Amino acid sequence: MYYLNNAATSFPKPKEVIEAVDTYLQSAPFHSGRVGFEMQAEDVITTCRQKLAQLFNADTPDNIIFTSGATESLNLAILGLNLIGGHVITTAIEHNSVLRPLKTLDRDGGIELSIVDCDTYGFVKPSDFADQVKRNTRAIIVNHCSNVT
Ligand SMILES: Cc1ncc(COP(=O)(O)O)c(C=O)c1O
Repeated sequence: MYYLNNAATSFPKPKEVIEAVDTYLQSAPFHSGRVGFEMQAEDVITTCRQKLAQLFNADTPDNIIFTSGATESLNLAILGLNLIGGHVITTAIEHNSVLRPLKTLDRDGGIELSIVDCDTYGFVKPSDFADQVKRNTRAIIVNHCSNVT
């Protein structure tokens, strides 16, 4: 699974994004009523989904999902994985959008959660993960780059 979070508030937007939105807002279908607008939006989303599927070697464009942001994406991914009854490893410096669903699952008895600590510089040790892995470990969930550090 690839999950892309373009750095929180995503400022500044690339100029291509600004130009695309500008062109889109000025285009005729946008002004020709909701049906035209929705059809064009659907085309844009379908094309984007196809290109992303190609880029990530996805089996089908149907596997590309757009969400409102990182919290929704991470909740969808974490709650959508088959974790129940299993063990999960994460780190103490994950964002709340990871820690909260995992801690809720742990509290409610759905999973067993191990939280790996970081050092004073924010680094986690790969051997700490290896030490925690069990037969029923279903997922290791780690930020590539933490907002905390
Ligand atoms: C590392 C990280 N993950 C997740 C999020 C949550 O993002 P969103 O506001 O899109 O839900 C943030 C937001 O700052 C973040 O920094």
